[in-house]
Amino acid sequence: MSLLDVSAISKSFAGRDLLGRRTRRLPAVHDVSFSLEKGECLAVVGESGAGKSTLGRIVLRLIKPDAGRVVFDGVDLLALGSREMRRLRQRMQMIFQDPYSSLDPRMSVAEAVAEPLLVHTDLDRAARLRRGAELLDRVGIGRRYLDRYPAELSGGQLQRVAIARALTLNPSLIVCDEPVAALDVSVRAQVLNLLRELQEELGLSYLFVSHDLALVEVIADRVLVMAEGRVVEQGDVEQIFRSPTHEYTQGLLSAIPVPVPRDAAGRRMVGIQGAP
Ligand SMILES: Nc1ncnc2c1ncn2[C@@H]1O[C@H](COP(=O)(O)OP(=O)(O)O)[C@@H](O)[C@H]1O
Ligand SMILES: [Mg+2]
Repeated sequence: MSLLDVSAISKSFAGRDLLGRRTRRLPAVHDVSFSLEKGECLAVVGESGAGKSTLGRIVLRLIKPDAGRVVFDGVDLLALGSREMRRLRQRMQMIFQDPYSSLDPRMSVAEAVAEPLLVHTDLDRAARLRRGAELLDRVGIGRRYLDRYPAELSGGQLQRVAIARALTLNPSLIVCDEPVAALDVSVRAQVLNLLRELQEELGLSYLFVSHDLALVEVIADRVLVMAEGRVVEQGDVEQIFRSPTHEYTQGLLSAIPVPVPRDAAGRRMVGIQGAP
């Protein structure tokens, strides 16, 4: 059984014209199906507006689809009551593009990471902060940052904090929505490497939303290509990059400036796009 089985998901939103009047509903996601195995990274790629973020939010039931099914670890998410969903949601987390808006500016770094434990566990304050500090250590945020606030950290550091926070409840699935797109080019590779290491260490599954195929080639096992809400192609990353069958995918690929470098063992390396 797959960790995640998504079948025939569709979702449309009410459109607006220039004067803000409602127009007919526009499909954002149309008849999308895929599955994700434990420990696997599936990239969802496509241009802006293709429906990638909507799909990611539907998977976590942050948005309800108009049609289709989302089955997580054998459980039909759309059939769950809110209390059961709350419990299950601990195992599914999301990392957003903009770490500034995903963290509360009034919460210190240590508090931000410990907070999910306050909400979802019986751990006392000392135990929560201890666990938070361990996680921050793991993502490369030193102890001296524990009492700092988001405004005092760089974008890369904030994204590391957001990653630590996503890990506090030991999730099995993380939806990463353009997790490095807002970061300086020089720190993108470091954060991407961190995500890759954590995935391996913790056996995480990623639904990795990105418009940047150079990143996708580095991190993904499989790729789902979306255009205008529909899946135009899906397959192993090697196969998609070597022989894209769809014209749209070929177009996306031809926009990558340089091929991803490989080490002696043929493994894809991360030092791309000017990063160290
Ligand atoms: N909450 C919303 N209300 C209305 N339209 C939306 C909403 N969210 C997304 N859309 C529309 O759905 C389409 C897909 O958007 P999105 O999923 O954000 O694409 P992507 O993440 O691939 O850029 C776009 O046309 C967008 O304008
Ligand atoms: Mg998006």
